[in-house]
Amino acid sequence: MAAPEIDQADLLVERGTRGLVTITLNRAAKRNALTNAMYDALAATLTELNSDSEVRVVVLTGAGGSFTAGNDLADFVSSVEGADARPADQDAPVTRFQRAVLRARPLLVAAVDGPAVGIGATLLLHCDLVYATARSYLQTPFVDLGLVPEFASSLLLPQRVGPQRAAELLLFGDRIPAQRAHELGLVNAVLPDADTLREHVDTRVAALLAKPAGALALTRNLLRGYPDERINERSALESTHFTERLASPEAMAIMRSFLKR
Ligand code: COA
Repeated sequence: MAAPEIDQADLLVERGTRGLVTITLNRAAKRNALTNAMYDALAATLTELNSDSEVRVVVLTGAGGSFTAGNDLADFVSSVEGADARPADQDAPVTRFQRAVLRARPLLVAAVDGPAVGIGATLLLHCDLVYATARSYLQTPFVDLGLVPEFASSLLLPQRVGPQRAAELLLFGDRIPAQRAHELGLVNAVLPDADTLREHVDTRVAALLAKPAGALALTRNLLRGYPDERINERSALESTHFTERLASPEAMAIMRSFLKR
């Protein structure tokens, strides 16, 4: 399958000094919803950064007051109706993106301002550090969309917050305000606004980059515990269900109705 074309402006990759790269989801008019082309570009970028030993920290952020509204629902619909790869395919852009995140060598730091929905929320479970503005929220509305959780969130969320709280979050799909996400241990710190978020992330990243590089990298790998076969197995199982659900009349009707609003 040919790689989906990306509007280069949808993803900004900026190299900072001393081993920092910032990746900005930059599709603000669509709340930074992730298209197949964006997943492709993200996967390629993260893979490329793995082989650049200078790069030690990657900051993931979103432009225009959203982290990301999750997978582009129009792409979901066309993945059922059209010839695109389905999410469960090993070669599907979203699967490659998830693999690239799991294999990322640099530390992943998320700077969240605004909604982090669907994969925008489950991605945070794979980031080493997460900082968010007070107005931000996480949301996993998979059931409401007729879908099931992905990116191993049905495994990782219960591990992080306990099974009962994870059930509450994944079954109801309510918005989790940043402060609540902080209390649940899903967010490291809550900042008043986008400017203070940027300053805080800059300060924390500078502190990380000043640490002994070898010890930092090894400690991070020990904390992460990857590769963890259970994560791959759960992701694969979720993907199988996800693909089935995506093609269901239930899910298709919900997604089409969102897009027609
Ligand atoms: N896929 C495709 N388009 C999306 C999108 C998504 N996931 N999220 C937002 N958009 C589009 C809207 O269709 C709208 O497009 P239009 O201006 O061409 O009509 C635009 O982005 C702005 O969205 P809107 O809903 O008006 O913004 P908002 O600030 O009022 O609300 C959200 C933001 C994130 C709460 C809301 O957009 C939303 O619920 N999005 C869907 C989230 C979702 O279900 N993601 C999939 C999870 S698996």
